[in-house]
Amino acid sequence: MRRDVRSLGVVYTPAEVVRPMVELALAPVVHGKSADQLAALRICDPALGEGAFLVEVVRVLAAALAATGVAPAMARARASACVTGIDIDSRAVAEARRALGPEAQLVVADALALAPPERPYDVVLGNPPYIRQEHMTGVKSALRGYASYDGVADLYVYFIELAHRIGRRYCLITPNKWLTAAYGRPLRAWLAERGSVEGVVDLGALPLFANADAFPSIVWGTAGATPLAGPVRAARVERGTSVAEALRDAPLPLPRAHWRADPWHIDAPADRALLDRLAARWPALADVLPARPARGIVTGCNRAFVIDRVTRDRLLADEPAAAPLVRRFIKGRDLRRWLPEPDERWILLVDRGTSLAQLPAVRAHLARFRDALEPGTGRKPGTYRWYELQDPVGVHAASRAPRLFYQDIQTEPACCLDDSGELVPDTTVWILPTGDRYLLAVLNSRLYRWYARRRFPPALNGAVRPKLEYMRALPIATPAPRVRAEITKLVGQRLAGRSVDDAIDDAVFDAYALTARERAHVLDS
Ligand SMILES: C[S@@+](CC[C@H](N)C(=O)[O-])C[C@H]1O[C@@H](n2cnc3c(N)ncnc32)[C@H](O)[C@@H]1O
Repeated sequence: MRRDVRSLGVVYTPAEVVRPMVELALAPVVHGKSADQLAALRICDPALGEGAFLVEVVRVLAAALAATGVAPAMARARASACVTGIDIDSRAVAEARRALGPEAQLVVADALALAPPERPYDVVLGNPPYIRQEHMTGVKSALRGYASYDGVADLYVYFIELAHRIGRRYCLITPNKWLTAAYGRPLRAWLAERGSVEGVVDLGALPLFANADAFPSIVWGTAGATPLAGPVRAARVERGTSVAEALRDAPLPLPRAHWRADPWHIDAPADRALLDRLAARWPALADVLPARPARGIVTGCNRAFVIDRVTRDRLLADEPAAAPLVRRFIKGRDLRRWLPEPDERWILLVDRGTSLAQLPAVRAHLARFRDALEPGTGRKPGTYRWYELQDPVGVHAASRAPRLFYQDIQTEPACCLDDSGELVPDTTVWILPTGDRYLLAVLNSRLYRWYARRRFPPALNGAVRPKLEYMRALPIATPAPRVRAEITKLVGQRLAGRSVDDAIDDAVFDAYALTARERAHVLDS
């Protein structure tokens, strides 16, 4: 593994997070203990950093010891002797040593590769590294020994399992992705089997880490020989709530049976009832589409392949035979609700296997960028030729049939129809291989917007990412023919410029057979 700070997943934790987490983790193990019992506690942070958590642990334990009558200086030394910190970064450990004093056990090591301690720690807590699997080299084989192993899981997933291997009570802050992502499935299944989770809060809406687009969550529990039986406390925290309030008030006790391998969505009760009903009643998008959705294209060098009107006109005047390769190019940011608004941009659609022998003007244009186009030096290594697009274009991007497009990051629903079949989208666009106007209405509706905010992972600035695995599960109502015909007609009017959005929203509610109460709930949310 590279040892620069970024590759170690280093984001230190602010006090407003550390304090309530330490309180939550320590309160039950400290409560009612004598000085000797307190001094016998063993607390571990396996991704110590500069010691943010253990400094707070020492403060809390020292206060508890002092409350039993131990002199303050002695209380601090005894509290420091209770903590163990592990970090792969020797610089951070040296920094932590300064803060924690000589009594603390601090180790420079890969926590995931250490043998478990002889006696489990009473508490394991911390903020494990966020390192995407593509940046982990060398450690992957060691991770295969974990029950929660998944080839594309972030490193923090293994620290959640590690907490069970080395300790009893745990409280960890990690990205919230494991709660719903496909790569979190083995971990969720394993946690369900262990039955250790007491609570989980999704803090995705809170800007806790200034420089990281991490959407955090906190999970805590007690790993014992027998699984816990009671409900799991869960909350999805809104902006304006503090972490302390979120952990204290986590209000939603959900039956333990709810937390299995499937995504751990944390929904308000009124949302949950409707979400469950929609999923049970209607087929998923994946089951109604004629083929899998696809991404738009990756050129590897836009300045060579993407051309403006002047270049296009000149090229086609020189070489009319190039016309089939010159297509209108659209980026995600050009998508609007209903219809796209493409800029004056065209793409030279030189897919794998295209011969430019008869198209010398196209070849000459691309040759001007040859250094930047060479596979392996200018662009990603691969078996493509220098004048070909970097990734294969794919049938849906190249298709001239009507298709629907939506953005891979959405602030608002913005699905649009390319009826001309002329557009070729870039990689920030998802392509649905259908021109179905009913589906277009659904994907622009208030109901979809409501659903997307509850089921798609958050992105920056309040946007959501309708990744394929989540989009495929979107329930698509099968409306009565009369309702479908009405929606299709309304969409035709909308495409012609009439403002019938409210009527379309109502008709989509009809299609999904929502009750008046459910409609009001969606509109009020
Ligand atoms: C997100 S930081 C958190 C640090 C600290 N616990 C805090 O909250 O301020 C993650 C830490 O994990 C460390 N780290 C990365 N990989 C590790 C590994 N395999 N074993 C132990 N520590 C690791 C990094 O060096 C970094 O200090």
